[in-house]
Amino acid sequence: MKTVVTTAYRTTDALVMKGGIISRDLGAPFISRNKRSVGKLHEELGADILVVAKERLEFYPMGKTEPFFFHPNSSAFRTKRPLEEDPLIEVSGLGIGDSFVDCTLGMASDAIVASQWVGNEGEVVGCESHPTIAYVIGKGLAAYDKMPHLSEAMRRIRVIPADAVAYLSSLPDDSVDVVYMDPMFTEEIAEASNFLPLRETADMGQLTGAWVGQAVRTARKSVVLKAHFRSGDFEKYGFKRRVRPNTKFHYGVIDCRPEKVPE
Ligand SMILES: C[S@@+](CC[C@H](N)C(=O)[O-])C[C@H]1O[C@@H](n2cnc3c(N)ncnc32)[C@H](O)[C@@H]1O
Repeated sequence: MKTVVTTAYRTTDALVMKGGIISRDLGAPFISRNKRSVGKLHEELGADILVVAKERLEFYPMGKTEPFFFHPNSSAFRTKRPLEEDPLIEVSGLGIGDSFVDCTLGMASDAIVASQWVGNEGEVVGCESHPTIAYVIGKGLAAYDKMPHLSEAMRRIRVIPADAVAYLSSLPDDSVDVVYMDPMFTEEIAEASNFLPLRETADMGQLTGAWVGQAVRTARKSVVLKAHFRSGDFEKYGFKRRVRPNTKFHYGVIDCRPEKVPE
């Protein structure tokens, strides 16, 4: 589905100018808002709508009236707890100063947690195959300032608007400490509600052997998968499942360190 860029309902010259730049960045058409509702724009244009508002970018996939926009999401509360106890940090073996590739950036909550943990000596890359999601999140990570303790971690994340398998294929062997993947759940779960506006819009592609193969080739320490507890992907692709009682999603790990061959 194509994306069309427009401005907020109450448009200003500054927003129109910003809209022009974003339209060029994304290679997406810009149209005047002319006080039309998002529903009307969907109807008239048959396209997803990216609204340039004063404070943020708001993405309205076709048929949705709730916008998707950047905010720290679960990273806000996860980074208030001891980070070494965060399940992603714990299962991945990610260390301070390490490099982390998040294959499925989404809202970037996991990437922010990883980035806060690795610190300024570390490196975090986030791949997102949906170009508008990648753009909205990239701009949010670069500018969000309502949680100053996370600003550095957000700015550190390098967003790659590309398919993760293509990106991993471009990397040398053993060049990243941890590779992480969190594809869209095929089952709807309440905890994933922040992603609800994107359910039919985000890349719904699931794990493949080629994807896991590239991840194992490039990771020095571990490859981590987050998936629904009913997912058969853990066993199918050789991830050791870390069961988390009473949670709807589990983590699975492939240990890539030579001294620890996966069981
Ligand atoms: C469940 S969300 C990830 C949520 C993320 N972990 C977070 O903390 O917000 C999955 C995201 O990965 C993207 N995606 C799915 N397959 C991908 C692929 N092969 N390469 C890059 N991005 C992908 C989807 O478009 C979606 O935005």
